[in-house]
Amino acid sequence: MYSLSDRFFCSGYLWKAVAAFGRAAESCGLNLKPPPLQVTEYKLSTTRWPQHYEPLKVAIASDFHVGCLTASPDAVENVVSRINALQPDLILLPGDFLNSPYGHDGVYIEPEIVGDIFGKLQAPCGVHAVLGNHDIYEDPQGLHDSLRKNGINVMYNKSVIVRKEESEFVVVGVGDYTTGHQNCVSAFSGISGVHPVIAMAHNPMSSHDMPEGIVASVSGHTHAKQFKVPGIKQPTLRCPDEGLAYGMVQKNANPVIVTSGIGTSLVPYRNVAPEIVLLTVEPK
Ligand SMILES: [Fe+2]
Repeated sequence: MYSLSDRFFCSGYLWKAVAAFGRAAESCGLNLKPPPLQVTEYKLSTTRWPQHYEPLKVAIASDFHVGCLTASPDAVENVVSRINALQPDLILLPGDFLNSPYGHDGVYIEPEIVGDIFGKLQAPCGVHAVLGNHDIYEDPQGLHDSLRKNGINVMYNKSVIVRKEESEFVVVGVGDYTTGHQNCVSAFSGISGVHPVIAMAHNPMSSHDMPEGIVASVSGHTHAKQFKVPGIKQPTLRCPDEGLAYGMVQKNANPVIVTSGIGTSLVPYRNVAPEIVLLTVEPK
């Protein structure tokens, strides 16, 4: 499953050296603990959400990397409880459930255990997911089976019609961009244009290839740069469009929401707060 560039990014000595440097800094008293989990709220008033529809509350959480040093299974159980307490109508999980520890960021947790954690999520319009690049590196079939067994709709360049009382809308799940699984043509085919569309893709780069006119697309992957070093211009790994690093932005005349995610990858440190996004969509 690994390409040459995957090997460079994911198993290089560079990251182990950075992690070792962090451990040394911690032993000298530097606090490298991540900030507490936050709930980031966005309100989207849009003409693309029909006037006669009720507002829709969407919870979005991504990049758990369950088992990494900043997101143990217990910590992720807590995230699941926090999401349920928000009482969303719809839950979207745009990928990277699995951890790739590479010997310096926690442990690998089997997909069977990971799926059981997310099986506790509850929302009347369902829980929908796409896989991220790390899920594809580790065990995509095992994770797919485990999430499905726990009632989660896992999508690969497909859409589904979802109903909330008398309102119907479409959720599109786009395959992962980094690993070459994205196919927006297939993902958006079969959509009648009658229903409003909410799209989900692991990597926000997919928003470049989405058709204009959707309510919003939601993504993770960037970790919002995960650990920001003051005074240094850091690239967003595997996302060459720096405008898509974090937050609610516009791309192709569509709103794009990029969450900072929960866990860590490559290095076991983050000073960017882990977050749950709560998006309210309402008619304008
Ligand atoms: Fe990630």
